[in-house]
Amino acid sequence: MIQLIIKNLSGKTIYCNSKTEKMLDVLQENYIDWMHACGKKGKCISCKAIIVEGMDNIAPLTEVEKRYIKSNKLKANERLSCQAVLKGDVTIQVPELYKLPHMNYSE
Ligand code: FES
Repeated sequence: MIQLIIKNLSGKTIYCNSKTEKMLDVLQENYIDWMHACGKKGKCISCKAIIVEGMDNIAPLTEVEKRYIKSNKLKANERLSCQAVLKGDVTIQVPELYKLPHMNYSE
C-alpha cells in the first residue's frame, strides 16, 4: 500500500493501493481539496506539489512536466499532481501560491 503524506496539512496521511494512480486522483479520492484549475489537462500548473520526500517513488516526468521544467515554471523538487503517478511512499507540501482559502494549513 502506498502512503502519501501531506506535510503542511498537519502531516495528513492517505493511502492508495494501485501503482497506476495519479497523485491528484488519490488526493481527491480521499476528499482533500487541491487546486486544479485546468481540470487535470496539464495546462495550468496550479496543481503542483512540492515533493519533500520520495521523488524516486514517482513515475518519470511526463512530456508536459518536462516542458514546464524547461520554461522554469516547475522546479526540480516539484511535480504536477495531475500528471505524477505514485509508485511508492511520497511526502508532499502544498505550495504557498496554490493554497486554497478554505483549507487549514499547518505551515
Ligand atoms: S490541473 Fe492544470 S496542470 Fe494539473
